[in-house]
Amino acid sequence: MCSVPPKLGRLSRSLKLAALGSLLVLMVLHSPSLLASWQRNELTDRRFLQLNKCPACFGTSWCRRFLNGQVVFEAWGRLRLLDFLNVKNVYFAQYGEPREVRRYAETKDSGSFLLRNLKDSERMQLLLTLAFNPEPLVLQIFPSDEGWPFAKYLGACGRMVAVNYVGEELWSYFNAPWEKRVDLAWQLMEIAEQLTNNDFEFALYLLDVSFDNFAVGPRDGKVIIVDAENVLVADKRLIRQNKPENWDVWYESKFDDCDKEACLSFSKEILCARATVDHNYYAVCQNLLSRHATWRGTSGGLLHDPPSEIAKDGRLEALLDECANPKKRYGRFQAAKELREYLAQLSNNVR
Ligand SMILES: Nc1ncnc2c1ncn2[C@@H]1O[C@H](COP(=O)(O)OP(=O)(O)O)[C@@H](O)[C@H]1O
Ligand SMILES: [Mg+2]
Repeated sequence: MCSVPPKLGRLSRSLKLAALGSLLVLMVLHSPSLLASWQRNELTDRRFLQLNKCPACFGTSWCRRFLNGQVVFEAWGRLRLLDFLNVKNVYFAQYGEPREVRRYAETKDSGSFLLRNLKDSERMQLLLTLAFNPEPLVLQIFPSDEGWPFAKYLGACGRMVAVNYVGEELWSYFNAPWEKRVDLAWQLMEIAEQLTNNDFEFALYLLDVSFDNFAVGPRDGKVIIVDAENVLVADKRLIRQNKPENWDVWYESKFDDCDKEACLSFSKEILCARATVDHNYYAVCQNLLSRHATWRGTSGGLLHDPPSEIAKDGRLEALLDECANPKKRYGRFQAAKELREYLAQLSNNVR
């Protein structure tokens, strides 16, 4: 996502007004159908769910719940009109407690048959999903129930996938008390570590790291990745086996001082060909924690304005800087490790 440069501020405001105006006209024009769609539960509609696209769909495991009308849009989400506005393809719905549903284009409930023998058609669907949007696969292969930091996958019907609603975006904690932000920062570094080094020897590299792609559970305060569309899965065992060129040379991602928000520099080819990679630490430090993180007109990152004794000490800033933009060779690996320890210590101190 890019920020609008200040020069365009005025222009974008009038564009917004124009858009709002035409929206009102559209609403008036469509009011009878609007009213009807308000009363009707679209989520029981096979066409809306695109059930006819199956088996080129995400699956059918939740169809009974959808077709029975147990899943309903929340307030504004009920407006059919929001469909074409909903560029993000994320809808909020209720099933007992709040859930989130979203629409994807291709595939099938894949998790259930992933590890079994695949028929040719299933293999095709799996590859298609991988090519189109791997998110539902990532959620099923790395389930939250087994400790992975993703939203819980619930099921699919047609091209609609249901996942658990996590909570508010990380962004809404940007001005939370220092202790809270230290805890969130520590969790983010732990996520970076878990996705890089785990018993499964899969490295999951986060390619879209921003304040709106993480959410925080309201009860447990746990940080969860809510946008797993841009996750690169590297099979480290395979890399060790195939030994591509330079596979065992530690790879250091390059700091990206671009003037947009939340940019990251990476090469998928390299991430898939090296066994030791500092990409996740880089992404979290540069885009979320350090003073280099810019988001929606703010700067300073999640750990902005530390209490004076921590600022005076200087260690935190030095570690964050080295983690975002290392000056020493392999400095980021070391800084990330120390940062995790330091944040753990700080969050214990303040608890
Ligand atoms: N499981 C979820 N729980 C809570 N909020 C969510 C969840 N999934 C998405 N969101 C919210 O919807 C927004 C858009 O979802 P996201 O997957 O990031 O879409 P996009 O691919 O368009 O960026 C997120 O920034 C977040 O605020
Ligand atoms: Mg997103």
